Parts: sequence; structure tokens; C-alpha cells
Amino acid sequence: MDLIADITAEHDALTTLRRDIHAHPELAFQETRTADLVAERLTAWGLEVHRGLGKTGVVGVLRGALGSGTRAIGLRADMDALPMPEHNRFAHASRHAGRMHGCGHDGHTTMLLGAAQFLARHRDFDGTVNFIFQPAEEGGNAGARAMMADGLFERFPCDEIYGIHNMPGAPVGSFAFRKGAMMASSNRFDITVRGIGGHAAMPQKAVDPIVIAAEMVGVLQTLISRSKSPIDTAVLTVTQIHAGDAYNVIPAEAVLRGTVRTFSVEVLDLIENQMRRIAETLPQVYGGTGELTFFRAYPPLVNHDAQTDFAAQVAEDAFGAARVQRNAPPVAGAEDFSFYLEKVPGSYVFLGN
Ligand code: NI
Repeated sequence: MDLIADITAEHDALTTLRRDIHAHPELAFQETRTADLVAERLTAWGLEVHRGLGKTGVVGVLRGALGSGTRAIGLRADMDALPMPEHNRFAHASRHAGRMHGCGHDGHTTMLLGAAQFLARHRDFDGTVNFIFQPAEEGGNAGARAMMADGLFERFPCDEIYGIHNMPGAPVGSFAFRKGAMMASSNRFDITVRGIGGHAAMPQKAVDPIVIAAEMVGVLQTLISRSKSPIDTAVLTVTQIHAGDAYNVIPAEAVLRGTVRTFSVEVLDLIENQMRRIAETLPQVYGGTGELTFFRAYPPLVNHDAQTDFAAQVAEDAFGAARVQRNAPPVAGAEDFSFYLEKVPGSYVFLGN
């Protein structure tokens, strides 16, 4: 396939570009330098460029030279880095303390630019390609949702949408596809337990929120073992318990925090509802009160069947069936590409690196 040779010719230039982005990581909704760079390249290659969607997002529009031109697809890359130090010593290591392209979005941005460059030179296709450079995938910031709130799909209608994430440790150049739920929903919660404070030596005059909180941790785990079907996957983890600050005082309040991950909205609804019931009623058994605050960050990422089959076939045709896994196991991480897939059919794929 001459497509690969043509892209390979740009390998050194694209590597230089990726290293430049890697050296200048930017956090969620602050990707101004990266967006400038993306917009400048897209403009130079003759794409129509739109900026400011989701604050720092960029969309490049490329129309094919053939046919009726009525159809359109979206190809998406995320641009943001992580708030973490980089310990690499190579020349293109991060120049900003506390920021690193540790999730490989520098690579995603470069890959999509490479695709834009290639297709801009080879417009022998029918339809429109919308190149979507998205901010703020990390940390629950939902740059995807921000771009959609700014009219992404109204201004740039897409019949289908596709995205790729690198997967360290998987064989280099291998593709992992999965129909249906591929990544988990990500959710966080706060439970406040209110009792009655008192002296540690006179518990009969208090309602001890620490005892209630301790019991609640165990009761919450029964949602995973007893409330949902054993076939459905979910995890509930209490990651924080905060209460008290003296050796001899029963505090008036305890706070539990944590995360819930599920692969379907139905299971998520079930768990949230039952968590609320437990959070409110268990403290009452002891004379206290409780309340749950539940925040849904990212929905489960659910790939569409036809688009996943199509993308997997393209990967097989281009790179060989040996490099393509069609029924990869799901991953319990979360990804805001899921917001796009709630509106537009498409598929998300992992690429070994
Ligand atoms: Ni990532």
C-alpha cells in the first residue's frame, strides 16, 4: 500500500513535531501553544480552521475532491498533558515543572496532524473529514463535552467518529478493537455522616459517626457482591475517610469519599440509587443522619458495532490480521470520547506502543 510509504516519508518531520509538543506540555483548557501549532499546520496545508470550541479546541475541515460530498466523519485527538513531573532526561523532556505528556496525547496530536497532512495532499475521497483537536481529556475535565456544548456536531456534522489511544505494553503497531462497552464510566462520591459529638469516655451520650462510617464501608461493598448481577462488572472503592482530630473526642461528623466505575448506565443507576439509600438510612439506625453527593464524570465508552467492524477491517487491510485484535478485553479506565459516542456512531481503538 503506497499510503504507508507516503506517510513514512514524513516520519522524521512528525517525530520532530511530537517532541516539540512533548517538551511544551499544557494542562486542561490551557493548550494555547499546542492549539496555535495545530492551527498553523492545518492552515498551511489548506484546511479550513476553526478555533475556540471548548476554549482551546481546534477543528480542521477538509473536503474531498470526489463525489457528492454529502457525508462526513470526525477524527479526534486529545491535546492535554498531565499535572505530574517528568523524570526523563532526553532532550525533549518537559520544560515545565509539574507538567508532562505522560498519557501520550502529544503522540495523538501528531498522529492526527499526520493524517491531515496526508489527506490534504490526497483529496481523492468523497465527503468531509473533520479533524477534531480536543482540550482537557484528563482529570474529568471533559473537553469533549465542552466542545459539544460549543456546537461541535451542529457546526461540523459527523456521520461517524473515530479516535485512537496509545497503549503502552501492547505489541507495537497492534490494534485492539472491541464492540460495545470498552471503557468504564468514572464517577465520584461524597457521603457525609452526621452524629452527635461527645466525650470519648461517655459514648452513651453521643452518636458516633466514625462507627457508622466504618460499618458503611462494608455495607457499600454489598452493592457489588449482592445488588447487581454477577455478570455485570463494577467497582466501588472508598478512598478517603475523614473524621475527628482528638484522642478523646467523638466528632460530630464523618466524611467518606471514593469512586465508582461501571460499564453500563443501567448498573450505574442501580448503584447510585442504592448508595443513596444506604447513605441516608444506615446512619438513622444509630440515630444519626447521612447524605450522598454523587458526581458522574465520564459515561461508559460504548463502541458501535458497525463502525468498529469497519475500522477493524481497515486496520486488517492496511497492517494485516495478525496485528488486529477484534474482541479485546475492556479497560476500567475512563475516557471522554464516550460523550461523542453517545451522540454519533463510531469507535475507539487502542494502538500498541
Ligand atoms: Ni490519555
